[in-house]
Amino acid sequence: MRAAALGAGFGLLGGVLAGACADSADAPPFVAAADSRQLMLSVLEPAAEVYWDAVGFIWDMEGTYEIEPRTAEEWEAVENAAWVLAESGNLLLLEERVEGDHWVAMSRSMIDIGMRAVEAAQARDADRVFEVGGDVYLVCTGCHAVYATETLRPNYDTIPDTVGATLPDTLPDTP
Ligand code: HEC
Repeated sequence: MRAAALGAGFGLLGGVLAGACADSADAPPFVAAADSRQLMLSVLEPAAEVYWDAVGFIWDMEGTYEIEPRTAEEWEAVENAAWVLAESGNLLLLEERVEGDHWVAMSRSMIDIGMRAVEAAQARDADRVFEVGGDVYLVCTGCHAVYATETLRPNYDTIPDTVGATLPDTLPDTP
């Protein structure tokens, strides 16, 4: 009697599990945890900023300084940011996020350019990081030009700050 009840119990459990498996096979395996705006603010923008800020110039009263990663840790941070950019192209391709053909094309470009960004960082080549950074920017704006015209230039807000912070109030006298 007891064995029969147990058997029936397992039979029921088996049925439930089989049902669950059948359901999950149909359901998409990915879930978009963030909406597109949050993905921009928390994943793409921070990674792009690390990459863009890694190489450049600062000029002040004393002269011009080149900014570039100097230590293994600094280069690793640049490379990690590049990996985030490359993989974020895949995140943008989640079905729930895709808004059209151009979106798909720009997301694939993000993967390609992101991988070139990784290679430049792995080669410890500051000039290439600078160049590829420009291409990354073109992909960002290329998508925004169609799907986020209000955000055409993603780091628009940071440009005045950067200039204000690095330009002297008065220009030095030229000898
Ligand atoms: C495949 C398309 C696509 C790509 C590629 C893309 N974006 Fe966006 N981005 C969007 C869309 C769509 C929005 C508007 C989201 C919203 O407000 O709902 C947006 C908005 C933004 C915003 C504004 C968020 C806010 O409302 O404050 C920033 C910042 C941003 N993107 C940064 C970037 C950067 C940096 C890159 C490149 C590294 C990039 N995006 C690449 C589609 C894209």
